[in-house]
Amino acid sequence: MLSTHEIVTLEDALGLERKESVALYRQFVNPGLCTLFGVVGLDRRFVRAHGVTVVDDQGIEYLDFLGGYGALNLGHNHPEVVDAVRRVEEMPNILQASVGALVGPLGQALAAVSPGVLEKSFFCNSGAEAVEGALKLARISTGRTDLVYASGSFHGKSMGALSVTGREKYQAPFRPLVPGCHEVPFGDVGALSAVLEQHECAAFIVEPVQGEGGIIVPPDGYLKAAEEACHAHGALFIADEIQTGFGRTGSMFAVEHDDARPDIIATAKSLGGGIMPLGAYTATDDVWSAGYGSSDKCVLHTSTFGGNTRAMAAGLKAIEIVVRDELAVRARESGERLKAGVERIAADSGLIKEVRGRGLMVGVEFYEPKVAKSLSHEYLSSSIAALLLHDHHIITAYTLNNPNVIRFEPPLIVTDEQVDRVLEAFENVCAHHRGIVRAFAGLGRTMLTRRGH
Ligand SMILES: Cc1ncc(COP(=O)(O)O)c(C=O)c1O
Repeated sequence: MLSTHEIVTLEDALGLERKESVALYRQFVNPGLCTLFGVVGLDRRFVRAHGVTVVDDQGIEYLDFLGGYGALNLGHNHPEVVDAVRRVEEMPNILQASVGALVGPLGQALAAVSPGVLEKSFFCNSGAEAVEGALKLARISTGRTDLVYASGSFHGKSMGALSVTGREKYQAPFRPLVPGCHEVPFGDVGALSAVLEQHECAAFIVEPVQGEGGIIVPPDGYLKAAEEACHAHGALFIADEIQTGFGRTGSMFAVEHDDARPDIIATAKSLGGGIMPLGAYTATDDVWSAGYGSSDKCVLHTSTFGGNTRAMAAGLKAIEIVVRDELAVRARESGERLKAGVERIAADSGLIKEVRGRGLMVGVEFYEPKVAKSLSHEYLSSSIAALLLHDHHIITAYTLNNPNVIRFEPPLIVTDEQVDRVLEAFENVCAHHRGIVRAFAGLGRTMLTRRGH
């Protein structure tokens, strides 16, 4: 065991036993999270990953149907993205003294695939940072401060992003948050218009399909109507495409479903091709220029690592592959197969309340059986995820804001055979669970009878 005073070299770290590296994580990083991973059975030593497959140190192969919460549209370690990063390894990666050679080209590529007339990009390293940048741009370009966001939303955990994230559990411990942020029900244009009428707002930020909120697809026409309501009241319409972007929902961006035209989109996750941490916001020229278009204002929002060469190379290659391999079409087709299969299983299961989703962003909401409630709110979906992992070697997870929902978000390169394997496993696990729930219900009844109820 390494002492707390010893410096661990990379060689040491790579040679550690699983037990040792977990102990270091527990001591030096986050003991609670460590326990949580252990509880859901994700505490394994994964040593290789390629495409949809992850391999542990016993040589067992797992199908990754979580897909890095939307960060792995191209799958694990896509060889062309790995190669793209290698190809620029001799170039200066971080050189703030001049304009990076690949930054403009990635800006152009993002503009080319973005909806509407989005043009100017800012590059950063994560989703939350992209959201921070978008919110600040909305404020500076409109000269207004208030913001509107949807209940159940998830935009990140930094202070600004958290202030527009509609989950009490995440917000409460950090109050006071950014003032002037108003929550409205997701999918309700009337409520949005009422707030925009009452307050001078800089922007409304929304996920076109809510991810962490439980994979919630808004009513048709909602996004377009929200855009129009914003513009009627002088506010900007910001689409958070961090999880939905780059083909995930069956189109390059999920706002395209409604033909909505955001003033700003925030992207991250799959923009880095599953290899580099990379985020961005992309705005119309008018909006960006109103905010930062003069030489005294052009440095008001920056990031040291933003625009680093390796991340730019990964981003360029990622966009090229999504377009070239028509991954949005593949997401639509595989998503239909997956959703139809899950719906069929849901109809017979007696456990599933609803199946939702668009493209390869599919959520399954379970009923909360009374017995399960007393055990744990997260009992049913997390135990189904655990069974999928242990018995079938399939990686899934529940959604952060709604733990009663299991998500299926595999890489967009998933094959029909892989989808079918997961469906078979899911059917099996649901059947197994039905038995357990019945047994619990029976036990509950027996205990109540014995107590004389
Ligand atoms: C829609 C959405 N926005 C923002 C974020 C935050 O991204 P990050 O974790 O990279 O900060 C996420 C992460 O799950 C997300 O799904």
